[in-house]
Amino acid sequence: MDGHIKGITILGSTGSVGTQAIEVVKQFPDKLKIIGLAAKSSHAKLFQQIQEISPLMASWDKTQNSKTDMTQYQNLYSEISDMCTNNNVDIVLTATTGITAIHPTIQAIKSGKNIALANKESIIIAGEQIISEAKKHSVEILPVDSEPNAIWQCIQGEKSEINRVFITSSGGSLRSKNLDTLGNSTIEETMKHPNWAMGPKITVDSATLMNKVFEVIEAKWLFDIPWEKIDVIVHNQSKIHSMVEFVDGSIKAQIGPSDMKSPIQYALLYPDRFKNPSINQFNPLENKNLTFEEIDPRRYPCFELGIETAKKGNTWPAVLCGADEGAVELFLRGKIKFSGIFTILNQVIKNHIPIQSPSLSDMMATFQNSYTEAINSKV
Ligand SMILES: NC(=O)c1ccc[n+]([C@@H]2O[C@H](COP(=O)([O-])OP(=O)(O)OC[C@H]3O[C@@H](n4cnc5c(N)ncnc54)[C@H](OP(=O)(O)O)[C@@H]3O)[C@@H](O)[C@H]2O)c1
Repeated sequence: MDGHIKGITILGSTGSVGTQAIEVVKQFPDKLKIIGLAAKSSHAKLFQQIQEISPLMASWDKTQNSKTDMTQYQNLYSEISDMCTNNNVDIVLTATTGITAIHPTIQAIKSGKNIALANKESIIIAGEQIISEAKKHSVEILPVDSEPNAIWQCIQGEKSEINRVFITSSGGSLRSKNLDTLGNSTIEETMKHPNWAMGPKITVDSATLMNKVFEVIEAKWLFDIPWEKIDVIVHNQSKIHSMVEFVDGSIKAQIGPSDMKSPIQYALLYPDRFKNPSINQFNPLENKNLTFEEIDPRRYPCFELGIETAKKGNTWPAVLCGADEGAVELFLRGKIKFSGIFTILNQVIKNHIPIQSPSLSDMMATFQNSYTEAINSKV
């Protein structure tokens, strides 16, 4: 490290990844500095963050009703695109949900910023554009999501061919639920993730395993690995975050605590590593029973449906993303049963007429249409 303090813009600073990223930055004041913070409607939380961190810029949705008076920070207000292209910014962390981050990510890449990528939707929908623009502008895509981050750590310094990648899954909050009552699982049960504290959408996705479908697509774009070389396995303890097998049969695994601060830190400080006292260390002797299982299709019907759909390429991944966004929203609003998520996904997929060689606007329109179809579903 050359003494340069990296400037960071955080899109989604009030969310699960965003708040943990702030914790990481606070541990390294001589290495990282927050330049921009963007959120949507959590005005009170953003207000606190601005008071504490004093960023140069901040962004919030002014159309949302709010009890918090943001007028005293009006001078900091910036459009998200300006926060992503500002001269003081080296890395943009994309930690928003949905597709908000897609255009700002591409703008940031075009102005030479590295992207710490947490938001899955942007790589699923705009993978082609993000990867090709990143190559063109020689910027790095730094994976934050713990599984792609683990794969990335495993392949550091490796030049030989990858034989197989094992993406691990905790199995989610409903992994031990009786199959007969699984479909009626409540929101409360579904939100109780055994290992990770995450935002609501991704917590539901980890119970259906749609989260893993998205990570497989992510891995394909980020590491250019063919479908048949990616396996997803259930590893209840969430200590091995993924593994890579090379042609000689040797396997590298990335192991660590179930703490998102760890992959966030690796991405923001890459290629350097520093001790962070706020991250617990992994002790093998306290983890004597690390287990691996195959995916039970009866428990996770969305997984196979999702993978088979994603493999078809073109607009199919955008359908998955949009339909899942709508279905999970309905579930979280208490409008459908847990089993309704699969029913809606299946319905929207069946109705989709794919577009060959889609443009980014085709992909975004497909996401939006699939979301609308899902949210208006009657199941
Ligand atoms: N949580 C994890 O551990 C984890 C792990 C790997 C990957 N990811 C991925 O990271 C992304 C974020 O996940 P999360 O769990 O952190 O979500 P979350 O807790 O729900 O937080 C979402 C954040 O995005 C902000 N946001 C949403 N729409 C916005 C908009 N239009 N403009 C500006 N800000 C907006 C929210 O602001 P408000 O609070 O103001 O609404 C909030 O700060 C997702 O794509 C997820 O799949 C998450």
